[in-house]
Amino acid sequence: MSPDDLKALVRSIPDFPKPGILFRDVTTLMSDGPGFAAAVAMLAQRVEAAGAQAIAGIEARGFIFGAAVAAHCGVGFIPVRKPGKLPVPVLAIDYALEYGTDTLEVDPGAIADGARIVLMDDLIATGGTAMAALELIRQAGGIVEEALFLVDLPELGGASRLREAGVAVEALLDFP
Ligand code: PRP
Ligand code: ADE
Repeated sequence: MSPDDLKALVRSIPDFPKPGILFRDVTTLMSDGPGFAAAVAMLAQRVEAAGAQAIAGIEARGFIFGAAVAAHCGVGFIPVRKPGKLPVPVLAIDYALEYGTDTLEVDPGAIADGARIVLMDDLIATGGTAMAALELIRQAGGIVEEALFLVDLPELGGASRLREAGVAVEALLDFP
């Protein structure tokens, strides 16, 4: 399956969740078995090339792709969670989204000092979410040299922000 075939499986919904936002919905790609399998295999190749020891995935859609890729590669999965879900003292950070604000939390004990971690999410837009997750993982002692996404919205600048923070960014699909 080619990247263009995968792109055709992403549904675009205008004015969700707010007027003016063109929402790129990856649930239609996930519900297509061959498409989901091809996307996971392509992402996994990149994780293997990076020599990562673990994948950190961002709640909620980053869990779906991150966990599948981690299992495919036989590496650990670290959940970067929305607030109040982890049963231990956490590192927490507030951040801005294309359509609001939120908080992310991580269990510092889940990240070994100096561990090489690939950051994963379904999509990068403004980069607020990924930059917040990067900050948390670095605070916990992890090393993030690579971030991986199914979809990049390059015009929103998130991938550039991550690169400026010293992280190599790859995405399977770009939407203008
Ligand atoms: C979406 C997406 C990314 C984030 C990208 O998540 O899954 O995590 O937005 O936006 P940004 O680059 O502008 O920060 P959302 O917060 O909608 O949460 P969900 O995964 O729980 O649906
Ligand atoms: N997260 C932030 N912006 C988004 C968009 N336009 N589509 C889907 N998820 C998003």
